[in-house]
Amino acid sequence: MGSDLMNKVGLFYFTGTGNTAQTVKEITKSLGDKGIDCKCFNIRDPHPSPSEFDIIGISYPVYAWAPPWPITEWIKSNNALKDKPCFVFQNFAGDPANAFRRILKTLKKTGARVFAIGQCLMIESWTTVRSQAAVLKLEQWYHEHKHDFGSTSEFAKNIVNLIKNHEYTEVTMLKYRFTWWNMISPFYTRPMLKISYRNSLDKSKCTKCGLCAKMCPTHSITLNPYPVFKTPCAGCFGCVNLCPTDAINSMLTKGKVRYKP
Ligand SMILES: Cc1cc2nc3c(=O)[nH]c(=O)nc-3n(C[C@H](O)[C@H](O)[C@H](O)COP(=O)(O)O)c2cc1C
Ligand code: SF4
Ligand code: SF4
Repeated sequence: MGSDLMNKVGLFYFTGTGNTAQTVKEITKSLGDKGIDCKCFNIRDPHPSPSEFDIIGISYPVYAWAPPWPITEWIKSNNALKDKPCFVFQNFAGDPANAFRRILKTLKKTGARVFAIGQCLMIESWTTVRSQAAVLKLEQWYHEHKHDFGSTSEFAKNIVNLIKNHEYTEVTMLKYRFTWWNMISPFYTRPMLKISYRNSLDKSKCTKCGLCAKMCPTHSITLNPYPVFKTPCAGCFGCVNLCPTDAINSMLTKGKVRYKP
């Protein structure tokens, strides 16, 4: 019992459309069921400092073959991660490219000690690629491959064992994997999104319900009385997908099928 008190886990996450929130809740519950005190926090909301926890979890979706900039900036601004045992769980929809390597490098710079990494495949939320025909293919691909890349429950089981046994051996840095997609990641950073990413509103469809402003992970939407979009945002397509009347568009999303989790 005494040693479990030293295992207070804080799991911090970023999510656009909620897939990451779903996996994080699963991990939190699995750890809780095994007697490990684990609490999860969306970094968009007020949350305690990581210094209040013995072990830190970081979770995020892969966007443009990299971790989203808000989670990277959150890590960089957190001196409290120094020397903390840390695990990372990412979800993606097809190809994560070097996202793990990028997050490991960022965490290494803070002095955090990453002892486990895991990932799972989730449904594609990048609306740009969701034409009617593509969605059928995407969903079929997801069902065929969802067990190929690891699962949330397997990862949680592994984490429970490592924590119970105090096994915090640092994972080795992953090798760089070349893919042409890597070239696109730098265009999905905060400064580049500020220049290139724009949401637009179809006022005739908007009911001013406020859902988009409430869920935006970077607080980039205000209601006046219609939504007003501030930049930079995370380019998560959360507002585009979750707006009940499909009143929001961004890059190449006109006529595309929204992802409704
Ligand atoms: C803007 C954007 C870019 C994405 N880029 C990738 C990618 O490079 N590789 C990938 O496998 N999935 C990519 N995805 C899919 C997401 O990683 C996946 O749907 C994830 O489950 C979304 O999680 P969330 O609901 O927590 O935001 C992208 C999604 C969006 C919205
Ligand atoms: S979620 Fe859609 S309908 Fe509601 S305020 Fe935002 S844009 Fe308008
Ligand atoms: S404005 Fe929309 S796309 Fe940008 S971060 Fe907020 S929810 Fe995501």
